[in-house]
Amino acid sequence: MRNVKNIAIVGVGQMGKGIAQVCLMAGYNVILNDVQNTIIENAASYIENGLKKLEKKGQLHGELTAAYILEKLDTTTNLVDAVANADYIIEAIVEKVEIKQKVCKKALDNSPNHCVFASNTSSIRITDIAKTCSKSANVIGMHFFNPAPLMRLIEIIAGEQSSKEAINIGIEVGESLPCLRGDRYVPQVLKDRPGFIVNRVLAPGRIYSEYIYDLAHKQGIPWEQVDADITGPKEPMSRLVLADFVGRDVSFHTAEYYADTLSPDFAPGEFVRKQVAEGNLGAKTGRGFYDWSKGRPKPNLSKKAGIVNPMVYTAIGANEGCRVLEEGVCRSWKVIDEAILAGMNFPGPMKAATKEYRQMAKLLDKYSEKLKKQYLKPIELFKSGNFRRYE
Ligand code: 3HC
Repeated sequence: MRNVKNIAIVGVGQMGKGIAQVCLMAGYNVILNDVQNTIIENAASYIENGLKKLEKKGQLHGELTAAYILEKLDTTTNLVDAVANADYIIEAIVEKVEIKQKVCKKALDNSPNHCVFASNTSSIRITDIAKTCSKSANVIGMHFFNPAPLMRLIEIIAGEQSSKEAINIGIEVGESLPCLRGDRYVPQVLKDRPGFIVNRVLAPGRIYSEYIYDLAHKQGIPWEQVDADITGPKEPMSRLVLADFVGRDVSFHTAEYYADTLSPDFAPGEFVRKQVAEGNLGAKTGRGFYDWSKGRPKPNLSKKAGIVNPMVYTAIGANEGCRVLEEGVCRSWKVIDEAILAGMNFPGPMKAATKEYRQMAKLLDKYSEKLKKQYLKPIELFKSGNFRRYE
């Protein structure tokens, strides 16, 4: 297998800059590429600050200093220059398939023959991204969770044409990247299906969330109380803060994508449409569910609205986990739970479902009627409890 030394990061916004930092910390030569100098400067200063902070706390490996690591960092706004000597490219640009296809083709046409192109897409099929390029065997998915230096999970996705070698290189690179909070977990996603493992299992929970948001908006219920209803006791960031952190536009576009690829039941609800139309996108615009103008909000979750049944989320997630198993996206319910813990820092739904699947299936029948969403109906593998055989 090829030895990866040079990594090009194409797209260095929120995700790309964190990915670049951990690539540098792993010892790779890293080149940052984006369309605007200001974005690159912002990323370079994020990385420098992060490394200096770690040096101060004595958390860099061995004798390493921030200055030594930063010598391996280069930048350019020219994609062709960025990839000319790359062994591995990580693409973290906007979630638009046509743009990703163009970048993938140009990057692989101008890089060495062995170079792997890894897309950090959160939802688009890798096979679609690779469609127009000349080396689709070199294209894989490498899905990080935000913020990449702190979240342990990296999903490695095989497109229909990805070579075994490209996948193995992806896993090797993923496992080599340090994480500031524990060991990396780098599962292979075996089928190129929308949302891969974690986003897919959590996706239909949005159908219930959108219903709750629309209800709360109509009834004028304060968001803090809704947040208190939805957020589980072990979750590190409340759900509505997380929704703002990820971006309401991202949720909106992802919902549209799932509506196209999985079921029309995913179509975005009224309230998220309003948020997007008004530009209240969350952290990035200073307002979403919460006001972000003074930094990350700290909602008071002591009072609940009482309009959410948390068991519904677990049941919906576990039922979707069964679809993921049935489609062959992964082979074990334990991988699903482990991946959710590593990518979201809260427990996955599968373990609870191994004991309570009968009760959960009844709940799903009830809620699919109540919300008029056929997609929420329990599938056979879930109802029967047979998913427990996929260990
Ligand atoms: N470099 C160096 N140090 C860094 C750093 C960096 N880049 N980033 C953070 N740190 C340091 C901080 O300075 C801090 O240091 P200190 O303890 O000495 O003060 C330490 O790391 C911890 O940082 P925070 O204080 O920000 O950490 P928190 O304890 O507040 O936890 C969190 C932050 C891990 C993000 C936690 O809130 C969490 O788990 N939230 C959930 C995030 C999540 O769910 N992400 C997934 C989103 S979905 C996704 O990405 C999928 C995609 O497809 C959309």
